Amino acid sequence: MKNILYIICLVFVFSHQVHADASYDRGKDKSATCSACHGADGNGENKMYPRLAGQYKNYLIHALNAYKSGERNNAIMSGFAAGLSEQDIIDLSTYYSKQKGLKIIPKN
Ligand code: HEC
Repeated sequence: MKNILYIICLVFVFSHQVHADASYDRGKDKSATCSACHGADGNGENKMYPRLAGQYKNYLIHALNAYKSGERNNAIMSGFAAGLSEQDIIDLSTYYSKQKGLKIIPKN
């Protein structure tokens, strides 16, 4: 009985892992469009564009949905968010939230 529980746990952990990585990888692919402004890993140098690297995943999901719905209005981002599906938003948010970034305090 214990062995069966152990195997069930392993399968659960493993499938969860695979799912998370798939989202990350898809997010990385989809981020090519965003990198022109936000930088390759979300750590863009240009201060006109907010850094996305290391931001909380839920915050990024919320922000992208807000642009998409028009709740948050920005001429540039509204256009990009309009073309994202719910899955795109989750994948991109997973990718950017896992980059090293906002945990590093900017010098100015
Ligand atoms: C042409 C430049 C440009 C591109 C390309 C671009 N963005 Fe943005 N992004 C901006 C600007 C400018 C802002 C700040 C807008 C504002 O003031 O709300 C922003 C803001 C954001 C924010 C909110 C950040 C915060 O801290 O609140 C997110 C999330 C975001 N972008 C994600 C993306 C994603 C994902 C893509 C690709 C699908 C993308 N952006 C493509 C320029 C761009």
